[in-house]
Amino acid sequence: NLETTVGGIPLSTCVYNASGPRTGASAALAKIAASSAGAILTKSATVEKQNGNPQPRIWHSGDDLASMNSEGLPNSGIDYYLSKTTIDETMEGCGGAAKPYLVSISGKTLADNLVMLDRIAKTMEEEKRIVGVELNLACPNVIGKPIIAYDFDQMRDILETISKKNYGFVLGLKLPPYLDGKHLQQAAAIINEYSGMVKYVVSINTIGNALSVDPISEAPYIASNNGLAGLSGPAAKFTALANVRQMRQQLDSGIDVVGVGGITTGRDAFEFLLCGASAVQVGTCHWKEGPKCFDRIVGELRELLAEKGYASARDCMGKLRPW
Ligand code: DHB
Repeated sequence: NLETTVGGIPLSTCVYNASGPRTGASAALAKIAASSAGAILTKSATVEKQNGNPQPRIWHSGDDLASMNSEGLPNSGIDYYLSKTTIDETMEGCGGAAKPYLVSISGKTLADNLVMLDRIAKTMEEEKRIVGVELNLACPNVIGKPIIAYDFDQMRDILETISKKNYGFVLGLKLPPYLDGKHLQQAAAIINEYSGMVKYVVSINTIGNALSVDPISEAPYIASNNGLAGLSGPAAKFTALANVRQMRQQLDSGIDVVGVGGITTGRDAFEFLLCGASAVQVGTCHWKEGPKCFDRIVGELRELLAEKGYASARDCMGKLRPW
């Protein structure tokens, strides 16, 4: 049994997609809906539709260990992800039986985030299939903009402003990787101040400010932003595990942690559950393998849990043993 809850939202399996890869349009979202994924999460939306950074903006290492992207938030605009047509088309994937539909937003300004949150709140009055919002405080690829969750004053400002709006919906925060334990502690402390509002965090986004170099052309592989991009894939897993583990230890128990970063197998998912994740997301592997990765990872996780004598995913969550 792989059931779980994230911020009180029930999921039939504790594995679902990360925002970003194959999440921009209803046709792709429908394929996630048709798989064993326990929820469907959209591409991070901006207020208006946008095309993103110039190509090439994605790169995969030949050894499959790392990927990089600087997409620059190509997306169809918030109204697309909130529209009845989009959600209908998505749910056709699961035969019309609604799965939890989560909307990711990544406004370019606080004002843009507030515009989108207002629209989401309004839409949710009628549209019950939207069950929660993932607010991305961690995008490394908006040229000229810092990662919000690395700027603690700005992070607190955003949370304070949103808290005054008293939105009723389930709010999650997408966080960047913290590479210093003290920074993670500061971020967790700020989030705990808003534990009445923030129901879960998603840890981690890509490891920003990475560079891959092509020895043949002698140029970066990625065109935009001087080749600088976010690092993902198996190489990111260890940083992600450390972030998930410490977030689980430091956040209030009412705030769930969703783990993401380099998950490719059921074993990877198990490691995140041990570290305290209530669910996991799959990004890079979904990008490379396609939506069949959800069935495979769910199957592998089921098998591993059975082998290890766990009756359910819940039974192993947070059970990492001390030395
Ligand atoms: C993009 C990348 C991210 O890591 C993110 O959080 C949001 C957007 C992008 O480049 O599109």
